[in-house]
Parts: sequence; structure tokens; C-alpha cells
Amino acid sequence: MENNTAKQRYKGFFITFEGPEGSGKSTQARKLAEFLTAKGREVLLTREPGGTPLAELLRKLVKNFEGEEVMHADTELLLIEAARVQHVQEKILPALQSGKVVICDRFADSTTAYQGGARGIDPDSIAFLNRLAMAQCVPDLTFLLDLPPNIGFARANERKETKGEHDRFEEEQLNFHLRVRNAFLAIAEREPSRMRLINADRDPDTIYQEIRAIADKLVR
Ligand code: TMP
Repeated sequence: MENNTAKQRYKGFFITFEGPEGSGKSTQARKLAEFLTAKGREVLLTREPGGTPLAELLRKLVKNFEGEEVMHADTELLLIEAARVQHVQEKILPALQSGKVVICDRFADSTTAYQGGARGIDPDSIAFLNRLAMAQCVPDLTFLLDLPPNIGFARANERKETKGEHDRFEEEQLNFHLRVRNAFLAIAEREPSRMRLINADRDPDTIYQEIRAIADKLVR
């Protein structure tokens, strides 16, 4: 993800959490939001796909669609990017412009990893659509909660958001999730200053201490 002029366009600070299902990123995002709020910052805690009523509808479609018709990978990509446009324009950009810290559970790196790395859509199309949807909202800091897929699998099954409901991603095979992980790790290697690699195979409190220390130093 290119670092562009976004930082000159708004006063806020943009943090994203990335990683596989079951890595604990939602819990960590919430705890970090509580910490920064206690420090006196105004925080918007949000998630993707989703974050606005329309984007949440698209989230449901992308995650749970079921029928005789197969959802094509490009359809999935466009629905996710459509949700992102709504979310960025309605919530993220205004929050950053007003000086808030925005903490987002998943963002454009998930598209690079899932639709690019795992579904195999070409990187140029992903980069183009991500750029369009992000409207220069480039994360200042990204925590990648890294976890071997077999461990993430077991955890995700225990705490399914939609228990009993068909989930198009959680039902993918181990190979799919290995490709997701490798794609995330490749982004972390390309962009070490933005992305912090966090070993998520530890107890949640240890992980939180590490995340809090990094954010405490960097959030301005
Ligand atoms: P989660 O928030 O519970 O992890 O669920 C979101 C699902 O959507 C997850 O399985 C990953 C998937 N996803 C993508 O495939 N691409 C994306 O760009 C985003 C934001 C999520």
C-alpha cells in the first residue's frame, strides 16, 4: 500500500487490525480502543466488511450467501470494495478529518490477502480497486496478528459470529487459509514500517501488552 499524501489531508490517526479468523483481532481492537479512549482520545472502532448499514448488508451477502448460483471471485471483490467505499466515505474519512483515532478490524490488506493471495485475482486489479475505495485513507499503523491456520480454525469454530449459519470463508479448506497467511506475511515484509507482525499464538493479555506499548509510542 503506497504511503501517499493522506496524512496531510486529515488530523486523525488510522489503525487497522489484520489476520486470520480466530486470531483474536476483534478483542485486541476493542481493548486498544478502550485504552486510547481512557487516554483522552476520541476513537471510532469499526470493522470491514461493514461499518455502515449498507456496508453491513453487503457483509452479510459476502459472508453468508448461499444458493445454487456460485458467487464469482470478482463479484466477491466488487461487493467488498463497494462496502469499503460506503464505509470510508460515511465513517472513516469524516472521523479522520475531525481528528479521531480510527481503529478498523480488517481493511484493504484483507482484500490483498483473501481476494488476491487466496482467490487468485491479479494484484493490479486489487491494488486499483483498493486505491479507489480507500480514497487516500492509508493506515498509519497495522497490526498483523499472525497465527497458523489450523489454530485459527479451531478458535474460529468455537466463537462463530453466525453459529450454525453457512460462512463462505470459514468453510474454505486449509490451503486457502495458508495462502491468506502467506499473502499477509508478504505485505508485512514489503511494508515493515506500517505493519507490525504480532505472534497471536500467545495468551491474549501478553498480546495486548505488546500492542498497547506500540500504539502508545506511535499514536499522535
Ligand atoms: P471477520 O471479520 O469475522 O474476520 O469476517 C470477515 C470475513 O470477510 C473474513 O472471513 C475475511 C473476509 N474478508 C475478505 O475476504 N476480504 C476483505 O477485504 C475483508 C475486509 C474481509
